[in-house]
Amino acid sequence: MAARVLSTDMPQVVSPEQFKGVMRRLGSSVAVITSRHDARVNGMTATAVCSVSADPPSLLVVVNRANASHAMIRQGQAFAVNLLSQSQSDLAERFARRTPDPFSDVPHTLGVTGCPLLEECSGSLECTVVQETEVGTHTIFIGHVVSAKIGMAPPLLYHEGTYHALSALKRA
Ligand SMILES: Cc1cc2nc3c(=O)[nH]c(=O)nc-3n(C[C@H](O)[C@H](O)[C@H](O)COP(=O)(O)O)c2cc1C
Repeated sequence: MAARVLSTDMPQVVSPEQFKGVMRRLGSSVAVITSRHDARVNGMTATAVCSVSADPPSLLVVVNRANASHAMIRQGQAFAVNLLSQSQSDLAERFARRTPDPFSDVPHTLGVTGCPLLEECSGSLECTVVQETEVGTHTIFIGHVVSAKIGMAPPLLYHEGTYHALSALKRA
């Protein structure tokens, strides 16, 4: 059966405001998605990151087509997902707005794809793009994972417009 492609022409029974109101309730890890094209590198804060398959290792990110990162990922055909640690909320704020040279004082290395890998993260996964699907204002990029780094730092979380640290529920 052919896949149905979502379009903005479809009848909207739920308003964007209702949708966003519910989605704010979704607690998520915070990542910085980095990209590279020619000599330029970029990064953007993102929560729309999801594991797709462990075999082969693959994941998806969802990027607004208005973002500078969108053109960079499309042109470079690669991206890296840097999972921020709870001590990196300043980086989440920095990469949520456009800054002329966002990596100038941020410790990082360049991965095998040339995308920046931030130091002291909870983990990072570098990907080459294998598939793109446009949905509404965004593009879903599916990436094949080409490098992985596990960090020990606890994750940074985002919920209801605020950054949080993880705390375990006490056992009864
Ligand atoms: C907590 C948080 C999560 C975000 N998640 C996403 C996301 O998943 N996808 C997206 O396209 N933008 C997301 N944004 C918005 C981008 O970070 C923001 O538009 C950024 O300025 C884009 O940078 P660029 O234009 O340099 O690519 C998020 C912002 C915040 C604060």
